Amino acid sequence: MINRALITSWLEVGCLAPSPHNNQPWKARISSAGVSLWLDHELVPLLGPYRLQFIALGAFIENMSYAAAVDGYELTVDEPSVVPRRAAEITVRFHARATHSANAAIALAGTKRRRTNRGPYEPVLPSGATEQLRATPCEPATSLALICDAANRSVAADLAARAMRVVFSVPELRRDLARFVFTGADGPRRIGMPLASMSPAAPANVPGRQWVLELATADEEAEAARARFERAPLHFVITSRTDTLPSWIAGGRTLQRVLVRATVLGLSHCLAAGPSEIPTLLPTLRRLVDGTEGRPLILGRLGVPTLPSLGVASPRRAVADVLIG
Ligand SMILES: Cc1cc2nc3c(=O)[nH]c(=O)nc-3n(C[C@H](O)[C@H](O)[C@H](O)COP(=O)(O)O)c2cc1C
Repeated sequence: MINRALITSWLEVGCLAPSPHNNQPWKARISSAGVSLWLDHELVPLLGPYRLQFIALGAFIENMSYAAAVDGYELTVDEPSVVPRRAAEITVRFHARATHSANAAIALAGTKRRRTNRGPYEPVLPSGATEQLRATPCEPATSLALICDAANRSVAADLAARAMRVVFSVPELRRDLARFVFTGADGPRRIGMPLASMSPAAPANVPGRQWVLELATADEEAEAARARFERAPLHFVITSRTDTLPSWIAGGRTLQRVLVRATVLGLSHCLAAGPSEIPTLLPTLRRLVDGTEGRPLILGRLGVPTLPSLGVASPRRAVADVLIG
């Protein structure tokens, strides 16, 4: 059996993965097989779809794969047994590998530097970046579509704006979000997003919950999202061939591979889950990736940040809080 301390160090890297609202919805147990993962239901938003939660678990697994590879192991994910999705147990197994992967160390360093930047991006990409991103190997039955031309980016920007308008116009969605936004006035947090990473102009002395519930306006948030998406030089959509739990995990792994590769290339990223999750927006997103078979999982934008300081670090739970048993 692999040393428990070594697996714990891989879990630590898993915990750096992105998750919706930074809810970090993972629970883990180290077993003789490797690692078992579940959703932590205390942290899953009441209204949020499970799809996004399992995409985050996929990103967690992808992060672990880089840390394990640096130590000479590769991982495989068992096909989950058919149970209610909310209860699914994901078993990750580690296997000693014969060859050493030099790229794993670069990817591992990328996972540690990666963070969301919701600010504006420069209109031009470093030369060769698009080609290098396009060459990202995708997990089986998932794909990456890059959206470069201005007309399609404008359509994507409109989707990002409409998604933001929905979130800030539906009281239940606002309440779901409010739990996950904090400022210095709230005291230290281990989950959720610093308000400064969402809205740098927002007052720092107002509790995050109050900003979400009372101060933010749907119009301002929607137009800010539109402007930033419109200006970003590159958008992407991750799609999975089927809309099933194993595909969401595979899609999360592909997503994280793209985000880490972008980080290594010096790019920042910002995701927008609304266009793939809000039923009235999904048909337009599907048209945007016309020709890609399957279910769009998530839209994102990439670019060199105009304001790197807006890549504000968000907190993480300690592995001890994630581990059970
Ligand atoms: C499945 C998924 C959906 C997300 N959706 C959004 C989104 O709609 N809008 C957004 O600004 N960030 C979104 N994010 C990014 C998270 O908010 C971000 O990863 C989290 O706050 C942690 O911050 P970090 O990426 O800097 O580590 C999403 C992330 C994941 C994994």
